[in-house]
Amino acid sequence: MMLKFTKLTSWIFILTISVKEGLVEGKTTTKAVNKAIIKTIKVEKEEIIDCYDIYKQPSLNHSLLSNHTIQIRPSFFPEGTKSDNLGTLRLTQTWHKYGSCPEGTIPIRRKGKNYNPTLLRKHHYPRLSHYNTLVTSQSKDIIDDYMVHEYAMIGVQGNFFGGQAKINLWKPFTETNEMSLSQIWVAAGEYKDVNTIEVGWHVYHGMYGDDQTRFFIYWTTDNYLSSGCYNLLCHGFVHTTSDISLGCNFTEVSTFNGDQKDATFSIRKDQSSGHWWVQLQGIPIGYYPGDLFTELSKTATSVQWGGEIVDGKSKGRHTSTQMGSGHLPSEGGLKTSSYFNWVQVFDENNRIKDPENVGKEVTNPNCYGLKIDNDHYATNGYGFYYGGPGYNFKCQ
Ligand SMILES: *[C@@H]1O[C@H](CO)[C@@H](O)[C@H](O)[C@H]1NC(C)=O
Ligand SMILES: *[C@@H]1O[C@H](CO)[C@@H](O)[C@H](O)[C@H]1NC(C)=O
Ligand SMILES: *[C@@H]1O[C@H](CO)[C@@H](O)[C@H](O)[C@H]1NC(C)=O
Repeated sequence: MMLKFTKLTSWIFILTISVKEGLVEGKTTTKAVNKAIIKTIKVEKEEIIDCYDIYKQPSLNHSLLSNHTIQIRPSFFPEGTKSDNLGTLRLTQTWHKYGSCPEGTIPIRRKGKNYNPTLLRKHHYPRLSHYNTLVTSQSKDIIDDYMVHEYAMIGVQGNFFGGQAKINLWKPFTETNEMSLSQIWVAAGEYKDVNTIEVGWHVYHGMYGDDQTRFFIYWTTDNYLSSGCYNLLCHGFVHTTSDISLGCNFTEVSTFNGDQKDATFSIRKDQSSGHWWVQLQGIPIGYYPGDLFTELSKTATSVQWGGEIVDGKSKGRHTSTQMGSGHLPSEGGLKTSSYFNWVQVFDENNRIKDPENVGKEVTNPNCYGLKIDNDHYATNGYGFYYGGPGYNFKCQ
């Protein structure tokens, strides 16, 4: 049902949503049904950005948000992050060359011809059972019939109001229809009740039809079964910035032995509103309203950082899909292997701090590895190198 519905709306140019009077902050809307799309920007390669009136964004149509008041900016506005800590990325997106979204609107990347609704929530949570043992494990998770998910990540358990990290940006090779991502998971709940909020970068040919490194978010409230999705492909995430669009590519990525690009991603619960804000380079992008969640309505009970790939075994052997830079941490550190720096949590007193009692999960160390970086703590905070090439003589 939901899948069909989302596809249908993808081709609606003029979207009309009525916003009830008095429900929106700082603005009195009438019951009149207005055009929701204020401006359309044509980008390269058939990419289109629609600037929606912020008060008429499709997410507000979610059944749990019928009385929602938009929070324009978080109440904790950037604190605990030094601005010189934010990363080397110049935060521009390709579409900025072709126009900008006016104030009071939000940029939504239109679902293109490659949009495949079956991928709406094709995602998976790392198995907590391995994680709980806090040891390296060789086991794999079989999701549908043939897709194997592999991880190289760290995590902490406790009570948190979020997490952040500066993540190195790369463009890993991915085999057809597979994906490679580097992200932060903030989660609560077990088994069918797993609630997550996820943010990071991914390369996902099956979803976008290309190999670009893109900014993405994800959420679920029932262990990826019937709720949640990537980006704005379903209703829920309330977008607030007019500058940054979800699902768009980064204009700069790192090169082997060359310039390194990185960016700070964060997920943080606003104590006054209860909403989970997503920030990129210190810019509040928008938030997941607290009302969407069951388990995450209070604190997160785990925060995780690292890489994930899927292996479709299409060539009858392990995939060559790369994680991170495509190089194992054992091949060398900076400029060789991908990294996470300034890995931090927001604890239950809402203080930003280093993760403690860190667990490590590497599902297949012959293919993708992870190594804590103890050498650069003074300059880079808590960090690690991760990733790998996939298929090689030890990884068949
Ligand atoms: C919003 O929901 C109403 C009824 O629930 C539906 O008729 C309408 O098409 C929806 N609009 C969007 C943009 O999804
Ligand atoms: C919205 O407000 C109306 C009227 O107060 C109430 O009946 C309804 O349950 C509310 N909806 C949600 C999702 O809270
Ligand atoms: C981002 O996408 C645009 C348009 O498709 C492309 O021209 C550009 O090279 C991409 N950027 C990177 C870093 O690959």
